[in-house]
Amino acid sequence: MNELLTIAMPKGRIFEEAVDLLRQAGYKLPPEFVESRKLIIEVEAEGIRFILAKPMDVATYVEHGVADIGIAGKDVLLEEERDVYELLDLRISACYLAVAGLPDTKMNLVAPKVATKYPNIAAAYFREQGEQVEIIKLNGSIELAPIIGLADRIVDIVSTGRTLVENGLVEYERIKSVTSRLIVNPVSYRIKDTRINELVKRLSRVVVLEGK
Ligand code: PRP
Repeated sequence: MNELLTIAMPKGRIFEEAVDLLRQAGYKLPPEFVESRKLIIEVEAEGIRFILAKPMDVATYVEHGVADIGIAGKDVLLEEERDVYELLDLRISACYLAVAGLPDTKMNLVAPKVATKYPNIAAAYFREQGEQVEIIKLNGSIELAPIIGLADRIVDIVSTGRTLVENGLVEYERIKSVTSRLIVNPVSYRIKDTRINELVKRLSRVVVLEGK
């Protein structure tokens, strides 16, 4: 009998792509999987229990061992530095972290303000640039900050670029490319190695075949 595997999935925009990938890897997930509002979904036939978490929290569940596996954006992994192993670049939900702001404004203030959901990444980036900034942590709608006068710049995810354009902002520098990663709890990886390696093998095949 297969031991149960618990996988933490990110709710929101990564979710559908992650579900597609698992289906392509041969896992039979019920049709209502994507529309459901349930936060725990057990797929008995596959011996998998899915927990649906906020993307920022996936690595927390995995680090604490209540989920064996998780699918998390590289942005979150860089920001939080959780004690988890990164097993595979799933090459889904590709986007990048960038510095953006209003056009034609220089960051020549004494203590320019940078609004972001990623205070650690932003602080490290400006430190490397030798620029002293004040970081303002927000939880979303980051693009509001320069428009409303809360910050001189933002550090945020750019995917299609539409949010920047529609809010009259421009990109100043790219910081880092981001894709979703398969992460694992180190203890689970030792105990459930057969099941986890099987999952990694099946997903790797799809990732390579897709040529992503
Ligand atoms: C993300 C990100 C940007 C937007 C970029 O926000 O923070 O705001 O998507 O996408 P685009 O380049 O395709 O326009 P999200 O939708 O996750 O919501 P949030 O504002 O709550 O962070």
